[in-house]
Amino acid sequence: MSGADPLPLAGRVIAITGASRGIGRAIAELLHESGAQVLAGARRRPEFPGTTITAIVLDVAGESSVQAFAEQAVAAGVDTLVNNAGIGVFGPLEQATVEDYRRIFDTNVLGTLLATKWFIPAFQRRHERGLPSHLVNVTSDVSARTFPGGAIYAASKHAQRALTQTAAREGERYGLRVTEVRPGMTDTHFNDRTPGSPERAQHLQPQDVARAVLHALAAPPHMRIDEIVVHPAVQSVEY
Ligand SMILES: NC(=O)c1ccc[n+]([C@@H]2O[C@H](COP(=O)([O-])OP(=O)(O)OC[C@H]3O[C@@H](n4cnc5c(N)ncnc54)[C@H](OP(=O)(O)O)[C@@H]3O)[C@@H](O)[C@H]2O)c1
Repeated sequence: MSGADPLPLAGRVIAITGASRGIGRAIAELLHESGAQVLAGARRRPEFPGTTITAIVLDVAGESSVQAFAEQAVAAGVDTLVNNAGIGVFGPLEQATVEDYRRIFDTNVLGTLLATKWFIPAFQRRHERGLPSHLVNVTSDVSARTFPGGAIYAASKHAQRALTQTAAREGERYGLRVTEVRPGMTDTHFNDRTPGSPERAQHLQPQDVARAVLHALAAPPHMRIDEIVVHPAVQSVEY
């Protein structure tokens, strides 16, 4: 026996949306540490000093921006897309606004649809060469349940789950493995919060969700992990 174990994602090329902070940033860092070449996109150019992560300005709600992101990723030999970019708004139904609806759905649903759409042709070409591809969608534990105040957000996450499952069904034809990662409460900047406050001390950390993504991506080729749900131990969940 000689040498260290190879890094689990050595040779992989992975594009991640919404990677300037929070869960997406943690995913980018962990997958990079695990040996992958990482392309990280967000509206604010992500910063990863001292790494070889490629930072790209990306607005998932704009098709030309997504197309340019996909072209750069394809030129790098991308085999995996992680759709993580997402925003939230919370409040009772009678206070819902058209503006909030459009903002949330444009990012969470249209953004997921556009990114998936613009990466699929490359994944299909990989299949023609006998190579596999992977899609991970970071949705939410509320992609299959809801809660008071969660109408627009949960509806967008249900829609993201539908897109995920459609990609899984269609992708069977071209060797695309699809995983939905569904986090519960995670201590990030989500909804303009500041991470680290005492009341969220027991929430998941972004790195916990990143580990779930790594678990799915490092699965052996014959194995597809369809869905991972992760909650903080203290979160009570009504299904
Ligand atoms: N935090 C939680 O409790 C929780 C629980 C379940 C699921 N999630 C999901 O996890 C994902 C990440 O959220 P987070 O908690 O990490 O929130 P966060 O800290 O606010 O990070 C969100 C990321 O998405 C990016 N983003 C937002 N709009 C974008 C757009 N139009 N185009 C490209 N990037 C965009 C943001 O960067 P820019 O603003 O620079 O674009 C940022 O990097 C979301 O899909 C969210 O719904 C979060």
